[in-house]
Amino acid sequence: MRAADISHDITEVLYTAEEIHDKLEELAARVTVDYAEKNLLLVGVLKGAVMVMADFARMLPLEVQMDWMAVSSYGTGTRSSGVVQIRKDLDTDLHGRHVLIVEDIIDSGLTLSWLLENFASRGAESIEVLALLRKPEAMKVHVECRYVGFDIPNEFVIGYGLDYAERYRNLRDVAVLAPHVYS
Ligand code: IMP
Ligand code: MG
Repeated sequence: MRAADISHDITEVLYTAEEIHDKLEELAARVTVDYAEKNLLLVGVLKGAVMVMADFARMLPLEVQMDWMAVSSYGTGTRSSGVVQIRKDLDTDLHGRHVLIVEDIIDSGLTLSWLLENFASRGAESIEVLALLRKPEAMKVHVECRYVGFDIPNEFVIGYGLDYAERYRNLRDVAVLAPHVYS
C-alpha cells in the first residue's frame, strides 16, 4: 500500500511550521519572564500537544519538569462529546506545584475546564494554560488561557500534532481539513 499525499486532503494552510515556531518563541519569552522565580511543571495533553510541547519546552532556558496526561473527549469525529475520561494520569504530585498545561487547541473548552478543576482539586499552587490554537466561536465554556498562539475560525484543522481519526499528526503546518475527507 502506498501512503497517500496529505496535500490532497487540505483546503488551506493556516500556519506554516515557521510561523508556528515564531509564535512559540514569543510565548516562550513571556513564560520565561513569568516563571523566572518558579519551579515550573509543564503538563502536556496527549496526543495532540506532543509537537507543541517538544518545540516549546526546548525554547525555555528554565529548568522545568514535564509530565503527560491522556484524556479522551473526542472519539474519531469532528465534534466534542463533552465526556472526559482519563486514559493516562500524571506521575507527578501536583500539591504546591506551578502547573502550565500545554494544549494543542481549545475548541469547546470542555476538556480544559474539566482538567483545570481536576488539577485544582489536587492542590496545585497555580495553574495556567498555553494553547497553540483557540476557536473563540466554538467555545461552550469560558476557560482562562494566559498564553494563546492563534485564534482561528471554527473549522476543523489538522497537522502539527492535531489529528483527524489519528491521521495527519505529522503534517508540519496547521491546515484546514478538506470536507471530502469527513463527509
Ligand atoms: P475541546 O472541545 O476544547 O474539549 O477540545 C478537545 C480536543 O479536541 C482538543 O484537545 C483536540 O485534541 C480536539 N480538537 C478540537 N478541535 C480540533 C480540530 O479542529 N482538529 C483536531 N482536533 C481538534
Ligand atoms: Mg488535545
